[in-house]
Amino acid sequence: MPPEERLKIVQEFADLTDDEAATVFNSGGVPLDTIDRMIENVVGTFELPLGIATNFQINGKDYLVPLAVEEPSVVAAASNSARQTRDRGGFQCSASEPVMIGQIQLTGVPDPSGARLRILHHRQEILDLANEQDPVLVRFGGGARDIDVRVVNSHVGDFVVTHLLVDTRDAMGANAVNTMAEAVAPYIEELTGGKVFLRILSNLAVHRTVRGRAIFSKEAMGGEHIVDGIIMAYALAASDPYRCATHNKGIMNGISSVVRSTGNDTRAVEAGAHAFAARTGSYLPLTTYEKNADGDLVGTIELPMPVGLIGGATKTHPVAKACIKILGVDNAQELGMIIAAVGLAQNHAALKALATVGIQKGHMKLHARNVAVAAFESLGVEEDPALIDEVKEELVKGGKIRVDKAEEILKRIKGL
Ligand code: MEV
Repeated sequence: MPPEERLKIVQEFADLTDDEAATVFNSGGVPLDTIDRMIENVVGTFELPLGIATNFQINGKDYLVPLAVEEPSVVAAASNSARQTRDRGGFQCSASEPVMIGQIQLTGVPDPSGARLRILHHRQEILDLANEQDPVLVRFGGGARDIDVRVVNSHVGDFVVTHLLVDTRDAMGANAVNTMAEAVAPYIEELTGGKVFLRILSNLAVHRTVRGRAIFSKEAMGGEHIVDGIIMAYALAASDPYRCATHNKGIMNGISSVVRSTGNDTRAVEAGAHAFAARTGSYLPLTTYEKNADGDLVGTIELPMPVGLIGGATKTHPVAKACIKILGVDNAQELGMIIAAVGLAQNHAALKALATVGIQKGHMKLHARNVAVAAFESLGVEEDPALIDEVKEELVKGGKIRVDKAEEILKRIKGL
């Protein structure tokens, strides 16, 4: 069914007005047939704001970073934080080789330790078989590099889990890895006499990590007491999973926004990040903070970064393609390093606000426009950009950014 016809059915089912249906159908700058090929049962697009974070200097190079996100203050916070690193040289980032893991779960072997050794003994044959599946990846310098085999105990018995370690170069690599994992499975069965069950990529991409480090000078931050405050805020995250979840959520505000703007898989990066944060058995922050001998704040970040520049929406979505051009990156590792820097900046900004004036002051100021719009909706007043701004300004001046206050202001202006 073409998208128009699908939408007609949905419109009838949900009693959408013609205006509502037209809004859903509008595919913005992206051709509808491109969208229709990306996923199933397409009826339109879901638009998000794209903002540009500024001031990012990473390994000596300046970047403008596109962020696709619905939350106010994310772009401003990242830009503001990145500015506070510039007098100490910006962000220093590095990346591991882009090695992903494919898991092959072997069941039904009575001698799991023996089976593990038989698999390891045939490492080279397994790698050759995997590499036969993707000559293009091998030609570009990637391919299966190594295997790792573990015995995993479960409540239904032992499994022998083989990890195929695949350098996927500039691809995120899920397809390449899954194809290889499926291809080597029969050989692993032959070697062990067991039965392979799952064959799938692991999102805990511990061999594909990015790291970032930055010094936020006490002068740029407004004094050494702010350095101490951020270290205190970090200490709670490092000791308490309730705070740590929010701490890491703030990091992901920046990270997911760049992952999304470049057409990469936000869920893959998010799953990897949180699993990495919990890899010791305790859920820990993805960043660290310390004070150096000069009294400045040293921040670091490290996490898995399965992002690519080829394949998937990175190549088919025209806005994602433009975002990659704005970033001016040469390879997926460089993209990953930028994403790490944005995550660190985002986290630093949140901690600084929390350790000083609190998060609501800046956030609500930027959120005030949404609150003003909500008043137009609740009072059934037609939206007018100039009037929305007027209500917003008054809300900010009054200091109480609430819908009831916005309604009061709007009623007064409109004489309702
Ligand atoms: C809000 O989206 C993110 C923060 O809660 C992060 C944090 O508390 O560190 C501000």
